Amino acid sequence: MYQDPLESSHYGGTHTALSIPLRVGLLGLGTVGSGTLAVLQRNAALIAARSGRRIEVRQVAVRDLERARARMGAALQGGVQLCDDAWSVVRHPDIDVVVETIGGTTAARALVLEAIAQGKHVVTANKALLAEHGSEIFAAAQARGVVVAYEGAVAVSIPIIKALREGLSGNRIEWLAGIINGTSNFILTAMREQGMGFAQALALAQEKGYAEADPAFDVQGVDAAHKLSLLAANAFGTPPQFAQVHTEGIDRLEGVDVDFAQRLGYGVKLLGIARRCGDALELRVHPTLLPQGHLLAQVHGSMNAIMVHSDAAGTTLFYGAGAGSEQTGSAVVADLVDLARSAQVAAALRVPALAFQPGAVRPAPVLDDGAVRSAFYVRLDVDRFEVSVPQVLQQLALEGVRVQRMEVLAHPQDSTLRCLVLLTEVLRRDTLDTALAAVQHWPTVLGQAQVLRLETLG
Ligand code: HSE
Repeated sequence: MYQDPLESSHYGGTHTALSIPLRVGLLGLGTVGSGTLAVLQRNAALIAARSGRRIEVRQVAVRDLERARARMGAALQGGVQLCDDAWSVVRHPDIDVVVETIGGTTAARALVLEAIAQGKHVVTANKALLAEHGSEIFAAAQARGVVVAYEGAVAVSIPIIKALREGLSGNRIEWLAGIINGTSNFILTAMREQGMGFAQALALAQEKGYAEADPAFDVQGVDAAHKLSLLAANAFGTPPQFAQVHTEGIDRLEGVDVDFAQRLGYGVKLLGIARRCGDALELRVHPTLLPQGHLLAQVHGSMNAIMVHSDAAGTTLFYGAGAGSEQTGSAVVADLVDLARSAQVAAALRVPALAFQPGAVRPAPVLDDGAVRSAFYVRLDVDRFEVSVPQVLQQLALEGVRVQRMEVLAHPQDSTLRCLVLLTEVLRRDTLDTALAAVQHWPTVLGQAQVLRLETLG
């Protein structure tokens, strides 16, 4: 039988470097913490061979000791100490690297900063923490000469941070666009393919461990905006600019628009898009129409995918599980392996320690949503008997809105109405809003227009 040399006992014990383990303190034993521990324990020999040394979890801090013991059972044997004091772990002299998996931004920020102050490297999958406090944390890490690695923070199983920092490091990146929230994609897929209601699909995503502790972050686009700001930081050399990301989630999406889009040949996906636009950036998260044949439109369930367009490599696509326990553990362990391998290299060059040189770069100007150009899907509910469709189109044209396709469709609930569905040419959002404002007060046009961006990502 074939024996992978990486898994043989020869690699597991005799190499001199292997006698100096990388000592890990794990904060939290929830979805991410337990997945990380499981991967580290199951693949210990293989990971040691690839790292050149063993990676040993020495301490685990949890909130509830009894619950953790009951939940983890055998996984906590073998020299792993369980405690309920995270501060003692980050300050412990026998810990080289702190893996933060407790989530949130308050306690996590304080613990991570303390770990750095204590001269410990940090690995985290906490996108909220880095999107909101990344500049402070990276600067502290650089000053102390330690690494903050966060592969698990974005599109968990996909090594996209490493792809941007290493594989594509010779490229000028023009744009990236991705499905980067597994929960939203899972909900959209379950609603479309299984006819599930929104609440039922969300409950299932929570049961499977995909959703954030506060699932509003998933469905309102906030989690995707956190991740987009980290992707943009790596792609464009800016600090994370989460506050500037234009953010819309799937919570305001109506089923009727998903159906109409499908009839017109489009799928609807929650995309995060970051694009160079002259000296500024577009940073946006929103439900987006994509042609059904587009590769990103084929990404279903909790899967994620990120398309990157750069000057030398052209267009590349990265696909994989976007949520899950061991899927995130896989990324956290990859960061630990990097750390174990590169401990002798200058901190600023380690992977993927610092997204940028703090202080050396300024935040990029980010375009207002109104100035961002794309095609649009527009639904206007109109009086079936009184409206003059040519008049509506004429008014929109007068305001600079050119329509590439128009359909008049039955209203799903009200037989006295029709849905006027328009696909526009590429234009600025504020031009469209001005034009829609001009027709929306007509008595024959009812309610607010539903507007979704349409991208071809060519
Ligand atoms: N709640 C996140 C998602 C988990 O659904 O994508 C992984 O970051």
